[in-house]
Amino acid sequence: MSSLPLKVGIAGLGRLGKRHAQALAFNTRHCQLVAACSPVAAERDWARSELGVERLHTDFDAFVRDPQLDAVILVTPTSLHADQTIAALEAGKHVFVEKPLALNVPDCERVEAVARKHPKLVAMVGFVRRFDASYANAKAQIDAGGIGKPFLVRSQTCDMNDPSGFFVAYSAQSGGIYMDCSVHDIDLARWMLGNPKALRAFASGTIALHPGLAEHGDVDNGLAIVEFEGGARAVFYASRTLAHGHETSTEVIGTAGKLEVGHGAARDRVVTSDVHGVRHQSVADFFERFAGAFQSEMAAFIAACRGEKALTLTLSDATEATRIGLAITRSLRSGQAEAV
Ligand SMILES: NC(=O)c1ccc[n+]([C@@H]2O[C@H](COP(=O)([O-])OP(=O)(O)OC[C@H]3O[C@@H](n4cnc5c(N)ncnc54)[C@H](O)[C@@H]3O)[C@@H](O)[C@H]2O)c1
Repeated sequence: MSSLPLKVGIAGLGRLGKRHAQALAFNTRHCQLVAACSPVAAERDWARSELGVERLHTDFDAFVRDPQLDAVILVTPTSLHADQTIAALEAGKHVFVEKPLALNVPDCERVEAVARKHPKLVAMVGFVRRFDASYANAKAQIDAGGIGKPFLVRSQTCDMNDPSGFFVAYSAQSGGIYMDCSVHDIDLARWMLGNPKALRAFASGTIALHPGLAEHGDVDNGLAIVEFEGGARAVFYASRTLAHGHETSTEVIGTAGKLEVGHGAARDRVVTSDVHGVRHQSVADFFERFAGAFQSEMAAFIAACRGEKALTLTLSDATEATRIGLAITRSLRSGQAEAV
């Protein structure tokens, strides 16, 4: 373990990259944000003026080879994740890459093969929910046998409607609603169920508000069922169209009880009663719901790079999440159950 802070660079300063960059610059212990990479001048200017980052790269290859860096954080478009992760590992850097690892299984396997050649480097995929205090508590209770044998997970990722239709264009590169949103629920289900092998998936969906999604073979509300070896099952729901706020929740049912995480979208414990009725304010989006988890996730990555605590989340978990997400997406389009 080193007493020096880990020197970190970030690539991608968009919707989520800016949040990660701010956390690395101001709120993460034992690391120093020293470099940033973006093809967009305004994003590089932002990193310099808002975060004081001096090493600014337009070219990703120069960024990963920057000798000042111990580790890189990749918050770039999903289609770039696999090649950029490989480039980072081959340049001798620890790497954190946002989810999903890739939009096809061979790309995930290529990353795994390169990571095996660099066993001293940490390679982590951002399944942030594993670092949320409530999900971690639920997992600990399951591992302690609190609900008996878990056999059924019902999990949803539901965003508030964005009338700008931002994600309609985003759908062209995100892999669609299951690869972009449900991939979190898929990872959680495997984690909570003890990593059973997925066998078959069936999906159906509808477009409630955003017809532009049809062009990408996508939907704004999607349902899926996944069957696992040994009898476990998972049911997923993803939506882009909730009226009231962001609502991520998960139920795990076992032979001796059940656990619920995140039921409802209440922002806090304030309940307002007036002439309109009795109500909570809602969580607006995933940033607000998982702000603490994003911090804990980055702290776990830094700790792993510094040799303080190994990660339980593996690249192979990320490959399986992609494999299952793809089978669900195929089923949405074929209308048939698909083998995973
Ligand atoms: N964990 C989560 O809950 C969560 C939430 C949102 C997004 N994400 C993931 O984060 C990733 C980014 O999503 P986003 O919403 O921030 O996207 P975005 O489009 O807002 O940002 C992408 C960024 O990458 C930059 N970029 C593009 N090409 C680049 C290159 N070659 N080198 C360096 N930078 C490059 C762009 O300039 C931009 O700053 C996606 O993979 C997405 O799945 C994860």
